[in-house]
Amino acid sequence: MTALTLSTSAAPGLRADAIVIGVAKGTKGPVVAPGAEAVDKAYDGKLAGVLETLGASGAEGELTKLPAPADFKAPLVVAVGLGAESDAKDETDGFGADALRKAAGVAARALAGTKKAAFALPVDGPGAVGAIAEGVLLGAYAFDAYKEAANGSAKGKNGKAPLAEAALLGGKPRDAAHKSAVARAVAVCEELNRARDLINTPPNDLTPAIFAGIAQTAAKEHGLKVQVLDDKALVKGGYGGILGVGGGSAATPRLVKLTYKHPKADKHLAFVGKGITYDSGGISLKPAGHNETMKCDMSGAAAVFAAVVAAARLGLEVNVTGWLALAENMPSGSAVRPGDVLRMYSGKTVEVLNTDAEGRLVLADALWAASLEKPDAIVDVATLTGAMMLALGSRTFGVMANDDAFRSALHEAAEEVGEPAWPMPLPEHLRKGMESQVADIANMGERMGGGLVAGLFLREFVGEGITWAHLDIAGPAFNEGGAFGYTPKGGTGSAVRTLVRLAEQTASGDLG
Ligand code: BES
Ligand code: MN
Ligand code: ZN
Repeated sequence: MTALTLSTSAAPGLRADAIVIGVAKGTKGPVVAPGAEAVDKAYDGKLAGVLETLGASGAEGELTKLPAPADFKAPLVVAVGLGAESDAKDETDGFGADALRKAAGVAARALAGTKKAAFALPVDGPGAVGAIAEGVLLGAYAFDAYKEAANGSAKGKNGKAPLAEAALLGGKPRDAAHKSAVARAVAVCEELNRARDLINTPPNDLTPAIFAGIAQTAAKEHGLKVQVLDDKALVKGGYGGILGVGGGSAATPRLVKLTYKHPKADKHLAFVGKGITYDSGGISLKPAGHNETMKCDMSGAAAVFAAVVAAARLGLEVNVTGWLALAENMPSGSAVRPGDVLRMYSGKTVEVLNTDAEGRLVLADALWAASLEKPDAIVDVATLTGAMMLALGSRTFGVMANDDAFRSALHEAAEEVGEPAWPMPLPEHLRKGMESQVADIANMGERMGGGLVAGLFLREFVGEGITWAHLDIAGPAFNEGGAFGYTPKGGTGSAVRTLVRLAEQTASGDLG
């Protein structure tokens, strides 16, 4: 990852490959944002006009390159759009944290191939420092593990290594709050980028067993407890949902439990992640065109994994248990059939009508396992339904819950960290469509409202009286379009920062 430093240096004397500055969208054209005063001065105070001539408006996502003034050590100025100055409701005044995060991400992405950049964006406190740090670390991400062997270099296909070093100007290297904002960003983004790596890793190299092994290694490194149930242990324990889904694959399923405990914690959160390392659909096979990106179907488990490890690294005063329900959904002679009935870990029976509705089956077992510990709340994260993508598009995840206040808490946590999310209902009348002739419930219901039907199914496997929320990240988990802001193509790490925020709020007692 990009190395970050806080720097009190002034832009002109800085040895760097580029100086990044902010441009805001003013009422009469672009406005140079605070933090870039020294740069503007070197342009005789005419930088806004120069930028306008170059076509800049200050809109979010916009990037303009211009040669640095002659007396600067750095050769290049990169101006990134911050959008309109607003009454931000977070700790950064003027520009919201997410505008800073996105602008830093856009710049970091554009600076791939360069060694060092100085970020002279508006900094008015630790909130801004943390946001810029996150934008840099997330925007500079590249997945080139499979490019090296092919081209014999340590770089990506286009020969550009991620930005190696970033100095954050305006940050105070001796200020405890500034330093801890950077440390938090590093811990969260390192884990989030690891989640992206896992999502991007092709499914032949990330089986349930391999994923479980990676979780074990990370747990050891960061002082978490880890337990892995392999297929034999799953049979012994009666985890019919996970076994049913994993039964068609030569790569056997796993259930991983990660435990982080703080000695002074009085709250316990459980995070549950869907970890289908590849979703072919099973016997209800997906048609071509619908399976090329299905390595992303373990994004929920990757997010849970990242969030639990990040909580441990941050030493949050809350107990967090992560459950990774790992299986590969494949068709074969041993695969679950449409018509089969599974006896789930909870004891309920499920008639499998469509083997492509597999996520809810593995989650049902993990939700029940999590419930047995009676945590204060459970949050599951899953690339669960195409229907949620149809409803909310590819950048917003749906939030469902059995408790209105908890659903709002998750929506707010998501908003605070800049993850688009939206509350969705769990209409009772949709339960009827899942009635089965032979079992307690079927794994399919009405097609209309498919995302909500899936949520209602999951609700049946949450222990009595336990607060629960469900995040359907099918849209935002995997970016099939071009990179934007600090979001790369491919695995995005969706929901990681929302889960970490929830854990922080629970630790600080801001949540009941
Ligand atoms: N993993 C898919 C959902 C998905 C679709 C995630 C597109 C990301 C992008 C899930 O297992 C699935 O196949 N769901 C079915 C459920 C249906 C058979 C009830 C779906 O949404 O079509
Ligand atoms: Mn499926
Ligand atoms: Zn799936």
